[in-house]
Amino acid sequence: MRLKILGSAAGGGFPQWNCNFDLSRAARKGVEGVKPRTQSSLAACANGTDWIIFNASPDIREQIASTPELQPAEDAPLRSTPISAIVLTNADVDHIAGLLSLRERQAFVIYATRRVLEVLEQNSIFNVLDRSLVVRRELVLNEPTSILSSHGASTGLTVEAFAVPGKVALFLEDPAYADTGFGTKTGDTIGLRIWSEAAQAAAFYVPGCAAVDGDLKQRLHEANCLLFDGTVYTDGEMIDSGVGPKTGQRMGHLHISGPDGSAAALADVDIARRIYVHINNTNPILDERSLEAAWVRETGWEVGYDGMEIAL
Ligand code: MLT
Ligand code: MN
Repeated sequence: MRLKILGSAAGGGFPQWNCNFDLSRAARKGVEGVKPRTQSSLAACANGTDWIIFNASPDIREQIASTPELQPAEDAPLRSTPISAIVLTNADVDHIAGLLSLRERQAFVIYATRRVLEVLEQNSIFNVLDRSLVVRRELVLNEPTSILSSHGASTGLTVEAFAVPGKVALFLEDPAYADTGFGTKTGDTIGLRIWSEAAQAAAFYVPGCAAVDGDLKQRLHEANCLLFDGTVYTDGEMIDSGVGPKTGQRMGHLHISGPDGSAAALADVDIARRIYVHINNTNPILDERSLEAAWVRETGWEVGYDGMEIAL
């Protein structure tokens, strides 16, 4: 199985269009060790032919343009794509807006939980994806789902969706429920076990997660690879850097560092390869020369970057 990180940044990307914080400035200047990054997305291929994209970011057009595997083959029909399906982990803008760039009467399949499919239903702009060509299929939590192409053919990948602590999409927050998760319900944020029968290998993709609980730790036991929420290094990072009033927790993201961070919480779980993705433009690990990036590497984590490949 081949996995390719298409976008390793969180919503907004890196540099973010309106951000003048040190890190975005450094990325804009092309400072060595501070790589620009596009918004959150992963691609996987298990059978050498069909590519599955996990989350359709607003940068998907650019991501396809820089990934030859995702482009029509030279001998393929006049309109074609190796992208057979899109799987969504939540309904945040950074994960669904790219669907709008995939119009043009191309058949593929969208897989998501009922909660996320309802968001697509309720926003009629997504009807630009002709429903007779772009089929929407439900991911039922805790059930393995074979990812099939629009013709119903196997792609060699099976995913299992499981709920993780998180938050409803920002644009759907209900202030009336501010004390109880802004109206968040089960299925709003999921993690995915991505399994290749041929490779006998499992990767876990969890780009948004507010807490590591016993259930998650148990699932991740003996994973070949984990791509995990690396939005913020410290919970108060956006406040401390002066860019905004929200903590990581308020946004539904568990910070990386410290005794209650994700690195410590997952330290005793047997995972062959662990990689942070969905990295916010305030996170110091975006600078490879920082002490924070060094600490993350010392604790056995890798910092994801656009174009990073994982072979399982
Ligand atoms: C998040 O991951 O917190 C969201 O992508 C935020 C947003 O939609 O801007
Ligand atoms: Mn996001």
